[in-house]
Amino acid sequence: MPQQINNFIDGQWIPSRSRSPLPSVNPATEELLAHAWNSDAQDVDVAVLAAQAAYNSWRLMPAPRRGEILFQVAHLLTERKQEISRLMTSEMGKVLTEAQGDVQEAIDMAYYMAGEGRRLMGYTAPVEMPNKFGMALRDSVGVVGLITPWNFPIAVPSWKMLPALIAGNTVIWKPGEDVPATAAAFVKVFEDAGLPAGVLNLVTGAGDTGAALVDHPGVRVISFTGSTTTGLGVYTRAAKLGKKVTLEMGGKNAIIVMDDANLSLAVDAINWSAFGTTGQRCTACSRLIVQRGIKPRLVEALVEKARSLKLGYGLEPDVEVGPLVNQRALDKVAGYMDVARDEGVRVLVGGGRPANMDKGFFFEPTLFDGVLAGMRVEQEEIFGPVLSIVEVESLDEAIQVSNSVPYGLSSSIFTENVNAAFRAMRDLTTGIVYINHGTTGAEIQFPFGGTRGTGNGMREAGQAGLDTYTEWKSVYVDFSGRLQRAQIDTGDALDQD
Ligand code: UN1
Repeated sequence: MPQQINNFIDGQWIPSRSRSPLPSVNPATEELLAHAWNSDAQDVDVAVLAAQAAYNSWRLMPAPRRGEILFQVAHLLTERKQEISRLMTSEMGKVLTEAQGDVQEAIDMAYYMAGEGRRLMGYTAPVEMPNKFGMALRDSVGVVGLITPWNFPIAVPSWKMLPALIAGNTVIWKPGEDVPATAAAFVKVFEDAGLPAGVLNLVTGAGDTGAALVDHPGVRVISFTGSTTTGLGVYTRAAKLGKKVTLEMGGKNAIIVMDDANLSLAVDAINWSAFGTTGQRCTACSRLIVQRGIKPRLVEALVEKARSLKLGYGLEPDVEVGPLVNQRALDKVAGYMDVARDEGVRVLVGGGRPANMDKGFFFEPTLFDGVLAGMRVEQEEIFGPVLSIVEVESLDEAIQVSNSVPYGLSSSIFTENVNAAFRAMRDLTTGIVYINHGTTGAEIQFPFGGTRGTGNGMREAGQAGLDTYTEWKSVYVDFSGRLQRAQIDTGDALDQD
């Protein structure tokens, strides 16, 4: 029986006032998994009122105590890791081991941000006057709105929720429309960990629900991860209302392989970065930029590997590649096969739906050869198991091709030459750079995000992840007990403002 997923507002699981249903489908079997709600502006409004009401007592709770609740979130999430991972696999398709990795990222983030309850570091600095003290503190902002995608249904929301909560904000979360059941299981963890009512509110829905959150005057911050088109729309709407916005959008990430690379390491990393999560990661490798000498051996090994990958339902043992998330995603990826044909690209392996699978949104791992820099398949985010191979002559050319795309999330180089590695580290213009490692696998203690069209200059995770959810407050304490004037000794008065 499909499960009914309600919104979670002010500590209660309640249906949407819209009564408009939002079905959630298992992409491997096409069976109905759950019903959620396509919530409307009224639902969002009720959630904002609850978050506003809860804000004052939450922000005044000492941060170490807020941290204790988040430690409890980490413990419960660890206990429920298997159950939530299985639900995730059945709801959005990634294979079980990857779903476990997704949940683990949130566990890591919960421990990290819970620890911030005893840090949330500000700083002091000397001040100009005697008997005066100055400090800068991170202050909470208020009610924050989070809009997250379906591809990392637990990890990506955790990068937003946990820093928002530890900093003393209250939250409205609109998860990806394909993953309401996984989202509800995550919110249940916070409920069971003892988070007070109204501090975290879940409102399920599609684009209009997100738009209502962005437009609501009571929401001061929006953090968005998803497509570039939607993200830029969010940015424009929010800018008109003067909101603070963090955007994480697309990627067109490259792995560079130099002639001196360790071949087997590179093959494994490329295969995993390109086809893991069925290519549906913003960090997925979708371009292989390979030096001419090593190319024949590398491509041969990659073709063999891609052919051997086992597709199927991610809960079944040995399955390595799950389905795409839905029919729309499948149509988009399939559409790029026509683009590739028009651009004169050669399909080395894959290129269509697997012949023997009649259910599920599966697509074969695909390698395009003869791709030239600037082609659409080399520039546009496909978000599927498709890798474009570009041949280059030199390190300079490789770096130049890697940098010449509208996105700037992650990049990687395989080389055994320390000079080449350091030059790549310096000159690759992405937010994340890997040496002898694929383009995926970012850890939560470092900033995550990208340059150019990937974002708007903000970062998630690590200490940088707190910036979205805090305002700096500078505090001056004058303990002299008398009127003071700045000393004038060199002719230039110190400011008296
Ligand atoms: C994403 O695809 O939106 O680095 C996030 C990685 C993962 C996170 C990916 N830790 O691939």
